[in-house]
Amino acid sequence: MNVLAAINSIQDGILIIDEKGIVQKINPEYTSITGVEEHEIIGKPLLEVRPEAQLIQTLEDQIVQIGVYRNVNGREYVVDMAPIHEKGKLIGAVSICKGKQEVIQLSKTILKQKEQISWLEKKVQSSYQATHHFDSIIGSTNGLSDVTNMAKKAAQAPFPILITGESGTGKELYAQAIHQASKSASHSFVPINCAAIPKDLIESELFGYENGAFTSAKKGGKIGLFELADGGTIFLDEIGEMPYLLQSKLLRFLQEGTIRKIGGLKEKNIQTRIIAATNQSLHDLVRKGLFRDDLYYRLCVLQLQIPPLRERKDDIPLIVHALIENQGKEWVHKHPVIHEEAVECLKNYDWPGNVRELKNALQYALCMMEGSIIEKHHLPKHILNRAKQTESHSNSNIIYPSTTLKAGVDQAEEQIIKQALAQCHNKLDSKKDAAKLLNISLATLYNKMKKYQLN
Ligand SMILES: Nc1ncnc2c1ncn2[C@@H]1O[C@H](COP(=O)(O)OP(=O)(O)OP(=O)(O)O)[C@@H](O)[C@H]1O
Ligand SMILES: [Mg+2]
Repeated sequence: MNVLAAINSIQDGILIIDEKGIVQKINPEYTSITGVEEHEIIGKPLLEVRPEAQLIQTLEDQIVQIGVYRNVNGREYVVDMAPIHEKGKLIGAVSICKGKQEVIQLSKTILKQKEQISWLEKKVQSSYQATHHFDSIIGSTNGLSDVTNMAKKAAQAPFPILITGESGTGKELYAQAIHQASKSASHSFVPINCAAIPKDLIESELFGYENGAFTSAKKGGKIGLFELADGGTIFLDEIGEMPYLLQSKLLRFLQEGTIRKIGGLKEKNIQTRIIAATNQSLHDLVRKGLFRDDLYYRLCVLQLQIPPLRERKDDIPLIVHALIENQGKEWVHKHPVIHEEAVECLKNYDWPGNVRELKNALQYALCMMEGSIIEKHHLPKHILNRAKQTESHSNSNIIYPSTTLKAGVDQAEEQIIKQALAQCHNKLDSKKDAAKLLNISLATLYNKMKKYQLN
């Protein structure tokens, strides 16, 4: 191949001198940038033709210089200069120059791309922002306030946290609140649901890959979520679904604080706090050999166990009123209220889907209500039916608590007589009035009172 022809085709100006500073070669682009023709310079000492040339200095110092601004005879350009060595021996120097206009154009492009990158970075950051704080968590029963207090303490330490609880109990809500209360609040909160990603893709999602790591890999490689969460928090939801082999890579990160991309050789230090969540028993998964015990013990040092809603029914009215106020504001533009009977009905339901299900039921009721009062009949049918069953079941407990019908009837009779007597006890003819209320004779009332020893 003719190397000189190749040099002539380069779109940057090239000037080559030998070790004595004699010009050996320039290309046409050099002429167009500097205005110096071949016949004026080739074979001559560079300093003779261009006394201010700096390439001679490069020859002497043997130091590479990049982006040196030049203004010679009114021609402005930018030069890179480097010594040339062969087998360790200095044999000359080369200068590569670009016209000023081209440089300006290039720096404009770089500036534009920098702006684009920072815009994209902001966009990525904002899509990984936590929105909930501890204030968003409603509930004051013992079970929940204990969890909240512990979570607030855990937020201050950089250790991993495991959050367990049934579906819809607020695991992600707690994870976000912890992140927001931590020192990393200004960095990203990156959630990933291990169950939602195909098993063979989780590793590249979490750790990224290098250029050409595998055949279907994207050109230029890929940044993993761990790297994206650097300085912040990564929320590994449904951690129990993490493939066994990958669990060791996660453990390595927890122990060393480093990650390695797929196809990469270098370990990279990452400052990311892990918050993991699961609605399965990790302990059971360990026993079944599906979850590494070393990872389990590492994760469960700080464990938050969120109780299901059915175990903290006193929180239901609080949550209901807060949610109605928030959601009502958002999409009905009035101030809805809820009838006490409807709240009772909600308290009588078991909430297998926990707060998420409660939220959905209230959205349905807000949709169904006429005016601005949510009444019992605006609630979803399955909740009403379940509440009716519970009511009739609990009523039956009051009226028929005993094993025989006779004992049950007697107990109910005693209750009713007691109520009538209590209602009339301030009146002058209290027994007479009570008998009237019960629609029995005074004598019968006395007999019954004797029977039940109600004097
Ligand atoms: N104590 C609470 N106060 C207010 N809102 C709550 C509370 N608990 C949960 N929520 C709300 O209920 C919904 C479900 O919560 P979240 O997504 O955190 O549950 P989860 O435990 O992560 O559920 P899953 O296991 O299904 O992923 C969210 O809209 C959340 O804001
Ligand atoms: Mg969740």
